[in-house]
Amino acid sequence: MAASVADLERILAEAETAIREVGSAQALAELRASYLGKKGSVSTLLRGLGQLSAEERAEAGKATNEAKKRIEAWVAERKASLALDARAKDLAEHRLDVTLPGFAPPRGHLHPTTQIEREMCTFFTEMGYGIEDGPEVESDWNNFGGLNFPEDHPARDLQDTFFVTGGNVLRTHTSNVQIRAMTGRQPPFRFVSPGRVYRNDLDGTHYPMFHQIEAVCVDERTTFADLKGTLFAFARHLFGAEAEIRFRAHFFPFTEPSAEIDIGWEGRWLEWGGCGMIHPRVLLNCGIDPERYQGFAFGMGIDRTAMIRWDIPNIQLLFDGDVRTMEQF
Ligand code: PHE
Repeated sequence: MAASVADLERILAEAETAIREVGSAQALAELRASYLGKKGSVSTLLRGLGQLSAEERAEAGKATNEAKKRIEAWVAERKASLALDARAKDLAEHRLDVTLPGFAPPRGHLHPTTQIEREMCTFFTEMGYGIEDGPEVESDWNNFGGLNFPEDHPARDLQDTFFVTGGNVLRTHTSNVQIRAMTGRQPPFRFVSPGRVYRNDLDGTHYPMFHQIEAVCVDERTTFADLKGTLFAFARHLFGAEAEIRFRAHFFPFTEPSAEIDIGWEGRWLEWGGCGMIHPRVLLNCGIDPERYQGFAFGMGIDRTAMIRWDIPNIQLLFDGDVRTMEQF
């Protein structure tokens, strides 16, 4: 079959309408192939050119190429308009109401122990105390010896010590920081030191790991009255203007005199921590002249403080990681 201009005109007219009306990108691709593909009508016409005379062939060839270009242009145009239609349809169907209330993402908060610890540190930094850090694996000297615990004395066992290799212990209190921070330093100084401590003990109010905060204040004239005033202000900062404190005489190797501190709050007295005037021997052990300098130290449980504040009946509630418990703080 020889290609004729009439054939082309017919194909073009049909193609233009068909392309304009095609409803999907898939159908458009198929339609395009039916004209321009290897077996498409335009391609077939082109192949038929061989049978024409040279003159006719040149003219018909030109017309066919022209037709190809026009079909491609219609295809491109339709392709673009189909994409626009699809987008418009998508926008209409998936309308987003930006005025709807959102969902608040679940949000965590600080552990009660951390909350109290931060309140404690803020109180002391505002009073001009520095913050000191100390390791949880500690030498016997810093945890016991330097603090005037006699060698091989049962006092070491009183604290249910966890012994580790190399003569070290898991520190049983934050008092190790007294030795660390005072050694090689001359008064006046005051600092607090919060951190984890360890004792081999487990019941409703004891856990093998817990937190303490230590406070130390040394200069030439700090007295037990300053200790009392500081603790009183501290208690009221944490528990409000109704809080009271009282002392019960006690013994610690590293303070003299020593006392246990009770906090009075909401009609009951609760054991809160230990305190005293730093023993002259401890000052000497740190290279500080006890004839010239004196000061106080105290230490208390941070978890215990949280338990008093929020009336938490069992220390394990603080550490077993139950979200239902934690959500209440
Ligand atoms: N370290 C003592 C304890 O853990 C508490 C304490 C600290 C006592 C400082 C006196 C001075 O029981």
